[in-house]
Order: sequence, then C-alpha cells, then structure tokens
Amino acid sequence: MSTVLDRTPGPDDSSIVDPQREELILVLDFGSQTAQLIARRVRDQHVFCQLVRHDLPAARIRELNPKGLILSGGPSSVYAPGAPLPDPEIFHLGIPILGICYGMQALCRALGSEVSPARSREFGHTICRAVGNDPLLSGLPHEWTVWMSHGDQVHDLSAHFSQIAATETCPNAAIRHHTLPIYGLQFHPEVTHTDFGQNLLANFVKHVCRCHGDWTIESLIEREVAALRERVGNRRVICGLSGGVDSSVTAALLFKAIGKQLSCIFVDNGLLRKGEREQVREQFSEHFQTDLHVVDARQQFMDALAGVSDPQLKRKAIGRVFIEVFRKEAESIPDAHFLAQGTLYPDVIESGGSKDGPAAAIKYHHNVGGLPAELGFELIEPLRDLFKDEARRMGLELGLPENLIWRHPFPGPGLAVRCLGAITEQRLETLREADAVFIEELIDADLYRDVQQAFAVLLPLQTVGVMGDARTYEDVIAIRSVNTDNFMTADWSRLPYDLLQRVSTRIINSVRGVNRVVYDVSSKPPSTIEWE
Ligand code: XMP
Repeated sequence: MSTVLDRTPGPDDSSIVDPQREELILVLDFGSQTAQLIARRVRDQHVFCQLVRHDLPAARIRELNPKGLILSGGPSSVYAPGAPLPDPEIFHLGIPILGICYGMQALCRALGSEVSPARSREFGHTICRAVGNDPLLSGLPHEWTVWMSHGDQVHDLSAHFSQIAATETCPNAAIRHHTLPIYGLQFHPEVTHTDFGQNLLANFVKHVCRCHGDWTIESLIEREVAALRERVGNRRVICGLSGGVDSSVTAALLFKAIGKQLSCIFVDNGLLRKGEREQVREQFSEHFQTDLHVVDARQQFMDALAGVSDPQLKRKAIGRVFIEVFRKEAESIPDAHFLAQGTLYPDVIESGGSKDGPAAAIKYHHNVGGLPAELGFELIEPLRDLFKDEARRMGLELGLPENLIWRHPFPGPGLAVRCLGAITEQRLETLREADAVFIEELIDADLYRDVQQAFAVLLPLQTVGVMGDARTYEDVIAIRSVNTDNFMTADWSRLPYDLLQRVSTRIINSVRGVNRVVYDVSSKPPSTIEWE
C-alpha cells in the first residue's frame, strides 16, 4: 500500500533458523504497512511465511528454497531515485512470484514493462473484472470489489505479460507472465477491504506454488521442542515469568522440551493485578511443576517508589529494581546458562532495521520490565517466529488455561502507571479491587474478549459525594476499555450503559474510599491507552 514508511523495511534473514522446513513462502518487504499482514494470511493457509529484506540476494533465496515469493507493496515509486528494487536474478530462479502493488511494478519494470504515473491516484474500493480464467482467480466471481492504493500503474505490458483482470481505470489490475509463474496484482489481496483476497492468496499458495499446507501449531511445537532439546543439551534455562501470555507460553514450551532443566523466576513487585501471583504459582508450580522461584520484592519496590509521582521516574525506578531483583535471584541458580524470553515475530520485524529508528524509541518506553543483555546469559527466544495469535494457539495446545491465554496485556510497571500520583499500599489496594470488579463484570457480560485492554485507573484527586445524610470527600476511579488491532491506535469501547452502571455501583458500594466512577472516552491518538 502506498502509505508513508514509518518503519525500516524488512529484517535480514537471520531469523530464518530452519531452512529444512518443507514449505516456506518469503515476503520481500518493500516497506508496506501491510507486509506483515501478507505473512499472516499465507500462514492462515498452513504454510510457513516470513518477511525478508526486499534485496535479499537470489543466491540466498535459492539456499532457503522457498516454494514462492511475494513482493510486498511499498511507499516509493519505482522510478524514484534510490527506489528499493529486488535482485533481478530472482526472476530466473523458477520460483513462483506474486508482486503486490509496488511489488508488481518492481517486477514489471525488472522484466521490461513500462510503469508510469496513473492519470489520477487511485485509493479505495473499486470493481475488478476477470479476463479469461486464470488459476490465480479460480473460484472467484467474474466481478468483485478490490482495494487500491497507488499512484503508478503498469502501462505497456511488453511482450511478456497478459492481463487477467481489469478495473475501469486500471487495465492491468492483475497480470501474469506468459511463460514464467510470475503474477502481479495492482490491488491489495491481504486487506479485508478486498473481497476474496484470502481466496486469491490461497490460490497462489496452493495452485501456483503447489504447497500442501501442512504447517500446523502441533507440528511447530514438535519441531521447536526438538530444536530446543538439541540447543540446550543438559544445561539449565531461566525464564522470567510476568503473568502474561508471551512469557507463559515460552515457559510452557520449554517445560515440554526440557522439563526439570527449566527454572522460572516470578518477581512479585506489589504492582500486580488481583490474583496474579496465585495464578502463576498454581500454573507453573502445581500444574507444570517447574522449579518456580517466586520472589517477594514488594517492599523493595515500595521503598524505591516512595515519594515518586512523576510517571517517567516511576518507570525508571521500577525498571532498575526489577533488574536488581532478577539478577540476584538468577545468581542463586548456579548452573543457569540460558535466559528465555517471549519475543514475538512483530518485535523481531520492528527491530529488524536501524536501532535508532522510530520503532526503537517506542520499544524503549515499552521495555520497562524487560531485561538488559548484560545479564550474561545466552538468549533463547522460542516464539520469535510467531504472531501473537499463533503464540496463543500454541499456549492452548500446550495446556495453558483459557483465562491466562486471553488475559489482556499488562504493562511492565504494572499498577504503578495506573495509580496516578503517589503510590501507597492503600491506594494500590483500592485500585486493585476496583480493577477486579470491572474485569469481573466484563467477563460476566461476555465482553472481555471483545475488547483488547480494559482496566481501572485511580486518579490523584478527591471529589465530593453524599452517602446517607453525610457528605463524603473520596477517590475517583476512571475505567478504560479500548478496541485496537495493534495498540498503536485505539478507540474507546462502546460498552453498554447497563454494564457501566453495574460497574459503577459495585465499585462505589464495595471499594472503600471511592465515591465516583468515570468512563474514559478518548481514543489513541491523541490520548494513549495508559494514563501515564
Ligand atoms: P500506550 O499507553 O502507549 O500503550 O498507548 C500501548 C500498549 O503498551 C502498554 N504499555 C507498556 N508495556 N511497559 C510495558 O511493558 C511499559 O512501560 C508500557 N507502557 C505502556 C500498554 O499497556 C498498552 O498495551
């Protein structure tokens, strides 16, 4: 999609650790914001798919032996100076190729067709009509709606390509090479605005690339378990648990692979949600029987936070104490060699480029509660190939309970950034109770899984109320619930009024010291999801 490039395109191929995989499709990333989405859609066909740099050399691609290549869209124009182009040799590897938007223009240009600015920029829905019946369009109706977003078009198809679908303004909306298995789409099949986009990608994967689609979570677990056993040998792995999905799935996978050689560390910083410590203990000590170290560091964190109200200073203090506590506990596990982390594929992609790009700045802020490299362990990241929903499916398959798998994300600094102003044990307790009521009501209303993050915030002010005949002057709780795809943008959830009313009544009646509840109706941007 021709949108502004706000990240560094494509990681190198160092994350492709297993060239033995039977079926692999590579997405050459030209910088489109929907490049990740292409990979996800291909994986929905049970074929493993990864993003790589747009200019990965053809020789390396041959080594990786993919069944197909997809050239993503991108923000450039193929004729702009310095426009990213693929290694021209890739077109002679005999591997099926699908170019999408910019990717199509790049391949047409490389194969001798003329690309030039369209009469008008095209952006949005348009009707596309099939010309002939190419296998790429198999099962699609004669006419369907597609999503376009481009300024350039392929005009002269030279002698090599023919048209397989057209729109009113774009005669070459879909094309194929006469002799090679090379296709181009001017529209974006990966976005939901394109009808039958998933069928189209499935046709490419199954009919053109001839993939069988035997990549499943079960087979992935098997492969990862074998790889972990081989890498770890008889050494010990430490895994920091946070109570969240990623670290839990990492630990569950490691436990399956190496059992008693895994030691888990869970730091109770006193800033956790209600019941979190007990849940971790139950899951990882009783159910999985790992060597679980629960470190009660509540006092250390409270000491470090005493008198601190500034959000950034809170984050810094928490990050510092966490590392101290974790380091000390890790040192008490004498034969530890590896440190396992729940890094997911989107993190790998985002940090794939320059360390000082915009993505890096966001990561720093969100990395509070993470661990520095200097701890001296070798790093293991068994989820680094997975998207979040795949990690969740893996967790369920490994026997983690649904409520843990679907738990909303929780920031590293925990309740500290939701307890605005000074942090005291009493204020934390008020917040924890109010939060638990809200979450309980959301679950009862069967709406917990419809929103992506919901929580309570304790405001640093008191307001007047009336209880019986008496005037009160007590705390205010704000409740926040958001709907979001990626947490970069978010909208406030349109929760039913009667639910809001139940939450408010229950909080005011049962949480001591609160006489007012307000609902946050701000979207991100310009607000953020958290209040601090
Ligand atoms: P914001 O508030 O920036 O949050 O809209 C976006 C997402 O990031 C989470 N978040 C954090 N996660 N450490 C974390 O591990 C942090 O310091 C932090 N701050 C925000 C937030 O909960 C939301 O999911």
